[in-house]
Amino acid sequence: MNYDNSMRIYFKSDSRNEAFARISVAAFIMQTDPTLSDISDIKTSVSEAVTNAIIHGYENGEGIVELFCGYENDVIYIEIIDKGKGIENIEKAMMPLYTTKIDEERSGMGFTVMETFMDTVKVESKKGCGTKIIMTKKINATSLK
Ligand SMILES: Nc1ncnc2c1ncn2[C@@H]1O[C@H](COP(=O)(O)OP(=O)(O)O)[C@@H](O)[C@H]1O
Ligand SMILES: [Mg+2]
Repeated sequence: MNYDNSMRIYFKSDSRNEAFARISVAAFIMQTDPTLSDISDIKTSVSEAVTNAIIHGYENGEGIVELFCGYENDVIYIEIIDKGKGIENIEKAMMPLYTTKIDEERSGMGFTVMETFMDTVKVESKKGCGTKIIMTKKINATSLK
C-alpha cells in the first residue's frame, strides 16, 4: 500500500492506553481534514479494538499492543495487533451479543460497533498467537462539513 502518510505506535497492554490510542489516532487523522462524525466513528472503533486486545487478547496481563494508522487520499487504514491468546472461532466472536466474558459486564457488541462505524473490518487471528484487526473507512464520504 502506498500511503500518503502513516504512523505506528506500540504501547503496553494497560487500560489507560485505550484513551491514549484513540486520541493518538484522532490527532494523526486531523491531517485528512475529517468531519467530526468521521473522527468520532474512528475513535470509537479504535477504542473497541484496543480494549479487546487488552482484556481478551492479554486478559489484562502483560503484553504489547501495536497500532498502525495510514491514509491514502480519503481512505483511512487502521490495524490493531496483539500477540495474545487469539480467537478460536472468528465468525462466532463477531456475532452481535457474543462475548466470552459474560460475568464481566461485556456487552458482546464490540465487533458490531466496529462494523457499524467503519466501512470494512477484517479479523485475522490464530489461537495462541494473537489477533490483528484491519479496519478501513472512507472519510468525508457524503456529509457536508
Ligand atoms: N483481541 C482479541 N483477542 C482474543 N479474543 C478476542 C479479541 N477480540 C475479541 N475477542 C473475542 O471476541 C468476543 C467478542 O468481542 P466483542 O464483540 O468486542 O465483545 P466483548 O468485548 O463485549 O466480549 C470477545 O468476548 C472475545 O472472546
Ligand atoms: Mg469488546
